Amino acid sequence: IKRIGVLTGGGDCPGLNAVIRAVVKTAINQYGLEVYGIMDGFGGLIHNQYTKLDVRSVSGILPRGGTILGTTNRDNPFRYPVKKNGETVYVDKSDEIIANLKKLEIDALIIIGGDGSLSIGKEFWDKGFPVIGIPKTIDNDLSATDITFGFDTALHTATDAIDKLHTTAESHHRVMILEVMGRYAGWIALEAGIAGGADVILIPEIPFTIEAVCRKIRERKDNGKKFSIIVVAEGARKKGGEMVVAKVIPDSADPIRLGGIGSSIAEEIEKCSGMETRVTVLGHLQRGGSPTPFDRILSTRYGACAVKALMEGKFGHMVCLRNTRIETVPIADAVKQLRKVPPDGDKVFAAKSVGISFGDE
Ligand code: F6P
Repeated sequence: IKRIGVLTGGGDCPGLNAVIRAVVKTAINQYGLEVYGIMDGFGGLIHNQYTKLDVRSVSGILPRGGTILGTTNRDNPFRYPVKKNGETVYVDKSDEIIANLKKLEIDALIIIGGDGSLSIGKEFWDKGFPVIGIPKTIDNDLSATDITFGFDTALHTATDAIDKLHTTAESHHRVMILEVMGRYAGWIALEAGIAGGADVILIPEIPFTIEAVCRKIRERKDNGKKFSIIVVAEGARKKGGEMVVAKVIPDSADPIRLGGIGSSIAEEIEKCSGMETRVTVLGHLQRGGSPTPFDRILSTRYGACAVKALMEGKFGHMVCLRNTRIETVPIADAVKQLRKVPPDGDKVFAAKSVGISFGDE
């Protein structure tokens, strides 16, 4: 292996630049490799957009949010949308991409991504092209790793928001609803809710009823607590209900836009609790900004160990954190199914034990 490529796929995430920096520095300093940064995710492999990265090009990027590799997008090269006679048809561009990689003499690819991008990486390895994955998502819902980079930063942002909402909720005797990201898994809502001392946490894994949420708010009122804080994951849903979909974008690799669960329950909560209710949607603030020290360290370890794994020939594997150690697992294990919050796990138990309601009883 002489030359490697690195690309970022899917939504952006704090720590992406820290990973890229570690990959480039490790590849050059430890193994004397050449590194090409692929621009704009998998699209860059179709349109031959890449840039040679050296130690200078990654200087100063450790604390920076976003990615120096253009945009991260959700293009799927195995199902790539092209317009034909005004219609969108999906074509497989993977052979073209492998040919492009060979032309560039790129021997292996490091793919920094979540479930979607790593699944694509696995398909390239299934076709024989060497890849190594690095687990990225603020949602922390990838299997086979204790944690993905970016989650800790999002957790800090959400916890800080709860702390701030507490003081204004108290001053106005209001119910404050904070909507956080978490499409299929409620890790951000759960952990920020515990860290911020929320009164109610609503997550996709534990369907709720408005009655149970209001019972909790009234109970607090009866005990002299004149405000309540509710943290709701965007993918949370009522018992027997569906997720609240804000918008469906046709022809998109990721067509469902969630958002709106907070406002959809606010009116009902106001009615049944008799308290003024306000909603804050944290949105993409959770994906932006400088990574926390934990994420900077994790990203650096992931980046460095991914290059090491590549040099050891562990293709088709992803680096992961297991009990404080960086290890590798087959990408297939990581993308088999999403890692969800276990309703009977110790975190939910601890939250319930300190009086947090999940709106389920
Ligand atoms: O990164 C995952 C995620 O944060 C989800 O929780 C959220 O639904 C999604 O990204 C939104 O991303 P975008 O608005 O970029 O499509």
